[in-house]
Amino acid sequence: MLPLLRINRHLFACSSLPLSSSPPRKVQPFCKSLIRRLTPRSGAMAAKISTAAGSPELLFRQLFEKESSTYTYLLADVGHPEKPALLVDPVDRTVDRDLSLVKDLGLKLIYAMNTHVHADHITGTGLIKSLMPCVESVISRASNAKADLLVEHGDKIYFGNLFLEVRATPGHTLGCVTYVTGDGPDQPRPRMAFTGDTLLIRGCGRTDFQGGSSHKLYQSVHSQIFTLPKDTLLYPAHDYKGFTVSTVGEEMLYNPRLSKDEETFKSIMESLNLAYPKMMDVAVPSNMVCGMQDLPAN
Ligand SMILES: [Fe+2]
Repeated sequence: MLPLLRINRHLFACSSLPLSSSPPRKVQPFCKSLIRRLTPRSGAMAAKISTAAGSPELLFRQLFEKESSTYTYLLADVGHPEKPALLVDPVDRTVDRDLSLVKDLGLKLIYAMNTHVHADHITGTGLIKSLMPCVESVISRASNAKADLLVEHGDKIYFGNLFLEVRATPGHTLGCVTYVTGDGPDQPRPRMAFTGDTLLIRGCGRTDFQGGSSHKLYQSVHSQIFTLPKDTLLYPAHDYKGFTVSTVGEEMLYNPRLSKDEETFKSIMESLNLAYPKMMDVAVPSNMVCGMQDLPAN
């Protein structure tokens, strides 16, 4: 961890750009409704990333943190001259590994994103921002957590000419979202969904704290994830059995909880009797402020 003074100076450097050099969020019409197009706001270079030409080409890496069995995902558009990249659900313990990989691959990290406020580990977003001040943190507005960009259902997060669509999937927590690769002729096929703890391979996140609701989780999965094409690849935030990926079609058939009707699902969730997470009292307050709980308020 860098000294606080240095972190503060970097934060100031990023947040004090003159207005003329900070491109505003763009809004564009899409599918008969207005959907916000989120682009980096950290200066001219970042603006260039979202507008340059080039055939999109996805680079994808699935990374694992063994203490909390968390998956972190690295995505980049390597068809773009700047190779803009993002990390989904980075963990503080593995930030060095993740940033080394970003450097080795010649990528330009622009976003560090979370699917929700995690209770079992501290997010790496705060540490990443302290080391790379122009990276922007992303989390849902509904989470009530602090981040540079607060996203809502329907937002599109661009990295180069690729994008992730934000789908609100509350139930594990109130602010859970699923990030889904774009729907379009130049976007990756099959689609990929980063489900956080909303949908795990043959399981799902618990619903007994952090605003959880088994009713909401069931409705989220069935309305926002199981409606995706059946070949959509599902990448969860955790796995405890060694699985790495599933598909919508596979989970609709074989998920022992979410393939059932809602009443059966609710009774399964009510009878889990799970232990209180050992990291919860440390992780949640830290993750509500982007993993930077030691920063003085200013
Ligand atoms: Fe979680």
